[in-house]
Amino acid sequence: MSAEETLAQIANEVAVCENCSLHTTRKKSVPGEGPANAEIMFIGEGPGFHENEQGRPFVGASGNFLSQLLAQAGLKREDVFICNVVKCRPPENRDPAADELSACNLYLERQIEAINPSIIVTLGRISMGKFVPGVKISTVHGEMRKVGERFVIPMFHPAAALHQAALKPAILADFAKLPELLKEARKALGKKAPVKKKETVIVEDPKQLNMF
Ligand code: URA
Ligand code: SF4
Repeated sequence: MSAEETLAQIANEVAVCENCSLHTTRKKSVPGEGPANAEIMFIGEGPGFHENEQGRPFVGASGNFLSQLLAQAGLKREDVFICNVVKCRPPENRDPAADELSACNLYLERQIEAINPSIIVTLGRISMGKFVPGVKISTVHGEMRKVGERFVIPMFHPAAALHQAALKPAILADFAKLPELLKEARKALGKKAPVKKKETVIVEDPKQLNMF
C-alpha cells in the first residue's frame, strides 16, 4: 500500500471508530491532513469545536494562528501534515484521558510510519508527553532532539500562546528556527528536500472565451 493509500485507509477507519468513549460525543472525527511525503508533521492535542464540525484539524482560532506561524517560517500549510493525538473531540475541550490516548495511539503510529517525517513538532504538553516524557515544556520548547528514526521539537500549543501573551514571543521564535532545524535534520538523516509537484497553471484560451 502506498503512503497515500495508508493515510486514506486510516481516515476511513477513524471515521467509524468506536475504540474509546469519545466516539459517543463526536460529530466528525478528525484524522488529520497533509501530503503523504511531508517532511514535518505537527501533532496537536485533539479536535476542538470547529474541528469537530468540519472534520479538519486546526481550523478554529488556534488553527488561524498556526497558519500564521507556518507562513512566518516560510512554510505552507499544504506542505506539512497536521493531526492530533486523539482524533475525536474531548467534550468541552478537556484534556484527553490516558485510556483515550492509548485507544487512539495506533492510528497516530501508523500515520507517522506512513509519512516518515524528518521532524515531528509536538504542539502542547500532551502531545510532547508521547515523545519526550518527563520534561517541562517551559524548559525544552524549541529544542530539537533525536527520538528513534527522526527528530522531535516540542513547542507550546498555539491556543496557549493565544491566551497567554507571555508565551507568544517564544512560539514565534521557535517557529522561526524551523527552516534551519529542518536543514539540520535532513543532513543528519541523509535526506533531501522532496521534489515538489509543479503547480498547474491554467491559461485561459482567448479563442475559447470568444465562443461564449
Ligand atoms: N487544538 C488542537 O490541539 N487540535 C486541533 O485540531 C485544534 C485545536
Ligand atoms: Fe477511535 Fe480515536 Fe475517536 Fe477514540 S478518539 S473513538 S480511539 S478515533
